[in-house]
Formats: sequence, C-alpha cells, structure tokens
Amino acid sequence: MSLRQKVAEIFQECFGCAPDHIARAPGRVNLLGEHVDYNDGFVLPAAIDHATYIAFSKTSAPHSALYSVDFAEAAFFSPTELPAKTQSDGSPLPDWARYPAGVIWSLQEAGQSTPNMQAAFASDVPRGAGLSSSASVEMAFAIAWQTLGGWTLPPMQLALLAQKAENQYVGVNCGIMDQFASACGEKDRLMLLDCRSLEYRSLPLPKDAAIVIADTSVRRSLTASAYNDRRAACEEAVRLLKHDLPDIKALRDVSVDEFNQLAYKLPDEVQKRARHVVEEIERTTRAISLLQSGDVAGFGRLMNECHASLRDLYEVSIPELNIMASAAQSLDGCYGARLTGAGFGGCVASLVARDQVSAFVKNLAAEYESETRRHPEIYICEASSGAGIISP
Ligand code: GLA
Repeated sequence: MSLRQKVAEIFQECFGCAPDHIARAPGRVNLLGEHVDYNDGFVLPAAIDHATYIAFSKTSAPHSALYSVDFAEAAFFSPTELPAKTQSDGSPLPDWARYPAGVIWSLQEAGQSTPNMQAAFASDVPRGAGLSSSASVEMAFAIAWQTLGGWTLPPMQLALLAQKAENQYVGVNCGIMDQFASACGEKDRLMLLDCRSLEYRSLPLPKDAAIVIADTSVRRSLTASAYNDRRAACEEAVRLLKHDLPDIKALRDVSVDEFNQLAYKLPDEVQKRARHVVEEIERTTRAISLLQSGDVAGFGRLMNECHASLRDLYEVSIPELNIMASAAQSLDGCYGARLTGAGFGGCVASLVARDQVSAFVKNLAAEYESETRRHPEIYICEASSGAGIISP
C-alpha cells in the first residue's frame, strides 16, 4: 500500500470519514552548495521521491486534531495555545507537533487564515538523515492550511514562512534551502537558488546519470549546537574581514583571491570555516557551467572536492560518512560522491552512470557493510516535483 493510501485509511479510522484532501511535500538532496545558504550563496538541490503525506479535512471542532502515524500519537491544539507550545489540555506539545504548530503560528503572523483541521500524516523521508524530513513536514502542513484557508501564496513565500516556523517556533536556525527545495522542486530537474536574491531556476539533471542516496544509518546528533557554531564562525569571519573589505555583507561577497590574501588575519578555526564557504560558493558557480556544457565528470569532481572540504575545513563529517563517500568515489561509474545536508550523520549522495547503477549499489552496500558492520539503505532517487495537493 502506498503511503498516500495509508494516511487516507488511517484518517478514516481516526475520524470515521474519508479525508477531503491529501497534501504531499518531498524531502531533498543537495548536490552542491553545502552550508552556504546562510552565507547568501548558491545551492543546487533536488526534491526527492520520498515525502510527507497528510490526509486532512476542515473541522468545526474548537481545536485541530493531528495524528502522527510515525509516532503513533495524537496532538490537539487551537491557535490560542500556540505561543505557549501547549495542547488544549495544557500538556506540552510533543516534539513532532511543534512543526505543524510552528507552521500555523507563522501563517497567522503573516495574517493568513488557518481553520482548524483534522489530519493524519506520515513520512518516508528518514528522520535525522540529512534529507530534510522537517522541511517536508512543514511544507506539507503549509500546503494543507493554504488549502483549508482558501488563499494562495507563491511557493517561495510559503517556503519562507515554513523556514520562519523552524527558526522562530521550533528553534532551529536553518537557512532557506530545504524549505525552498521542498516547495519549488521540479520533476527530473536540479534547482538552482541564489540565496541572496531568492531568484531560482531549474536545470536538467545530467543525462544518463542517476542520483544514488546511501544512508550510513548513523543518525545526526548534536546538530543544533554544532550547526549554530558553524553559523557563528561565518558571521565572525565577515565581521573581521570587514576591516579590509568594508562593503561585504556576507561571505558571498568575498572572492577566493581576496580570501587568500586576507585569510592570515583570521583565527585558525574561523579561517577554515570561512574558506569552505568561499570556495564552495565558487565551486557551485563553476558546477553550473559544467552542468550546462554536459561535463558530468567535471561536476562529479567538484562533488568530491566538496566532501573533502566539509570533512577537513567545515568539519561536519563523521567516520561513517567518510567511509561511504570514499567507497562510492572508488567504484566504477561514480562521477562524484559527498555527504549531503548538514552533516554529523545521515547520507552520502552520489552521481552515477545509469548503466552502472545496479553494480554500484551492490558493491557500495557490500563495501560499507564490511568496513562498518552497519547495513546501509541505498536508494536510486528520482528528482520529484515540489509540495502540492494530490488527489485522495
Ligand atoms: C540544513 C539546513 C539548511 C542548510 C544545510 C547545509 O539542512 O536546514 O538550511 O544550511 O543544513 O547546507
């Protein structure tokens, strides 16, 4: 049974009738431009064919009733309880319910109507795996409330409101990439976003290449504090570089040459973090030209460089991600492989020649398992369309 059928059936069991609508919002994989969205850089993600599905209807009850299939738990809340992060009976919202509650809070702050809903939802985006499960939950609820409220915002606008929910309600200081990819993704395309102007366009995926996602099975830990430390180091670099480059607003404004000349003025750790960002923004720009000229091998080499930089300069990798990335990079048919997302656990994304994908998947699983004694999930992933309503 597909996940959309499952949420519809569970809705029926919970609420005694069929849902009026089903919303779907995908996770994402990022191919290049890692840890640059909050430095005004360029990112190159794709929405993936793993998603959150919500079966939902409007309710006249005084609160929304949400059932999480994945946590086998319900939460009840009304708009008045949102600031206190409590449910209608005064108990704290379960952690998973902070995402939908944050989305209503953010939509209400923006003056949108958010009628109470009853809903059952589930996701096949693995949690804590660097594939943006949180953004997919947020975007699916943003779409659901948009549908019930009878208003329409452009997808990028909804993505910004979902990001605000995560920053200010859930309390994770993420950039815009994940919500953007979930909201605006296109089938079979990579999405290029300028995180400063928020202009975006899509590019075709390299012909004859597949994206393979290999999950180390190590779940992310310590992310919020380590992620915030990385952001703080980037801000510190901008503050210090401003002495020589007074017009810069973000690391996006510093060229690799300028950085090389001024790097000695930065403390070691700040220097390493900033070097990753400055070079990664330049790498992403080069990658776009390579993609446009059909140079998949060149694009793949930049993915490998990105992994080394995340490992050695930004220091967000872990041994299992390094083992997976090296194993992938050494296999026939692999153009490039790197950790995807924030790091500290999760997945490696590889670009692989389609005619060698089956052998690649088999050999990668065997090699990773023999080195780590962990069993990896490996998916061949199709780039999918962004969040929307699908028929029940
Ligand atoms: C997480 C954040 C994104 C981005 C990536 C790293 O996924 O949510 O905004 O910063 O990490 O590129």
